[in-house]
Amino acid sequence: MCGIIAYVGHQESYPILIRGLKRLEYRGYDSAGIALLDGGLKVYKKAGRVSELENAIANKNLRSHIGIGHTRWATHGAPSDVNAHPHVAASGKFAVVHNGIIENYRMLKKYLLNKGYFFESDTDTEVLAHFVEDVQQCNQCTLEEAVRLAMAKVVGAYALVVLSEDLPNTLIAARKGSPMVVGIGRDEFFIASDATPIVAYTDQVVFVNDHEVVFIQDDRLFMTNSENRPLIPAVQQLDITLETIEKGDFEHFMLKEIFEQPNAIRDCMRGRLSTDSQKLVLGGISDYMDQLTKAHKITIVACGTSWHVGLIAEYLVEEFCKIPVEVEYASEFRYRKPIIGAGDLVWAISQSGETADTLAAMTLAKKQGATILGICNVVESSIARMAHAGIYTHAGPEIGVASTKAFTAQLTAIVMMALAVARQRGTITTFMFNELLQHLTDVPETIEVVLQQYDQVKHMAQAYKDMSNFLFLGRGYNFPVALEGALKLKELSYIHAEGYPAAEMKHGPIALIDEAMPVVFIATQDRSYDKIIANIEEVKARKGKIIAIVTRGDKTATQLADHVIEVPPIHEALMPMIAVVPLQLLAYHMAVIRGCDVDRPRNLAKSVTVE
Ligand code: G6P
Repeated sequence: MCGIIAYVGHQESYPILIRGLKRLEYRGYDSAGIALLDGGLKVYKKAGRVSELENAIANKNLRSHIGIGHTRWATHGAPSDVNAHPHVAASGKFAVVHNGIIENYRMLKKYLLNKGYFFESDTDTEVLAHFVEDVQQCNQCTLEEAVRLAMAKVVGAYALVVLSEDLPNTLIAARKGSPMVVGIGRDEFFIASDATPIVAYTDQVVFVNDHEVVFIQDDRLFMTNSENRPLIPAVQQLDITLETIEKGDFEHFMLKEIFEQPNAIRDCMRGRLSTDSQKLVLGGISDYMDQLTKAHKITIVACGTSWHVGLIAEYLVEEFCKIPVEVEYASEFRYRKPIIGAGDLVWAISQSGETADTLAAMTLAKKQGATILGICNVVESSIARMAHAGIYTHAGPEIGVASTKAFTAQLTAIVMMALAVARQRGTITTFMFNELLQHLTDVPETIEVVLQQYDQVKHMAQAYKDMSNFLFLGRGYNFPVALEGALKLKELSYIHAEGYPAAEMKHGPIALIDEAMPVVFIATQDRSYDKIIANIEEVKARKGKIIAIVTRGDKTATQLADHVIEVPPIHEALMPMIAVVPLQLLAYHMAVIRGCDVDRPRNLAKSVTVE
């Protein structure tokens, strides 16, 4: 939620800030702004996309070797010019960009109003700017010290950067709960919410931890911990390249990422799965295999698409490992009184590794003594670092706001984990283990076959483009795929869509069915095929339009359906990785045909770092 960027060094900062903000736009795109030192502190901000800010200041010939920038996903205060960041302290001396939520901002604002401060915006960040200034005045201290003292009084999450006209070669930054990375170039530094705006300039980075303060002055980087003790910055080499964060020949990041799935899955399996030796090597969780093998229960916490992966994990782990699984929305788990304690196992699934609710759920479970395994895509993300151990999905950066390759890569990791545990527990036969390993190895090629139906799905989308509602139905392993198909369609094309277990249709949704209701059935060959055929008949009898995802060679569902997409056969436990692909393409095409912004759907953000 919100992206921040800062630069100090020998280059012109303006182009670096604008380019960086465009890279970070997937984190929010309600407004954008920058602050520079160009004969004093200059702030430019605008509601809307980064390109609107860019157009508004195109003729300004901005020159500065230092600057901060922000792209916003609105929390406190509507998207508007005045609520856009940066926010400036009352004296006009310094500006702040912030990602996160200040939970006690009302109390701080009241205190500041009583002292005569005036507020232009409705944001918590303006409160932060004035509060830092107030702390500095009360304590007669440096700005860096004021940031530290102020942050000790702030409740909530923040990654913030401060730029002051009194400190012309200095950036001050602090983090708690929102991600922040420092890029170290040759005589230049970058600060950003993630590495995507930095990778074009340097691959040397320092991931900032909670409660740390960053002070960059001239060509030196100083970092201190919560007790104000100096830290030696832990410099790491970035594992992403520029190519992985660019669209290349694709029109949208989402489409690129849909087509990247075969390779993302191969990368996830690389070095871990060998069909020759019929072995799985999961180094990231090897120290916890014993605990996994003896587990009496596994609790999965996640949000959004990752939660759908959790549901599939439940089917897999219960079937093959014979361990009971509970799948929880992280946002609910954290506010219940979950029965979880020492010896319990929690799996946290997250693409970004920064989702606030998932992090909070993990914190709660950890506090109660549970062991946490993370299944994350972003290396060194907060969730990856908070987990006791885990598996990286290695899908590469996912930029499109709607998650696609993260879903299939997460499933790859989960299948490998489930098979490794089942093998060690002796709850799977050697035949089934080997068969599933073989089928998993075949998944990338199988997806490549499905992707060849790009034009066919486009054609089908054309036929349904004016519909207002959709139902997605599936059973067994394909039920969570129905949820995922509905989520993709609604978030991208703004068509109302619901996913249901097909049998539940009779308990309500069937009342909605008429000729204006397309129903997408995931009707691949599996143990519930006959049942799903019965459900298709029920929809057909009520004149609903039927789209069916079927296994190649299918006859019955094909005859009943208005439109059919065929997928190659695969073991039913792995079918979600295949069946989801036509649904991703359907949502993509529908959004394009309806003129929606595929990579930046309205009101959404890729990484929900606020609750
Ligand atoms: C947001 C994104 C979704 C994602 C969800 C969970 O809602 O738009 O695509 O599935 O967050 O994110 P995570 O990074 O934890 O998987």
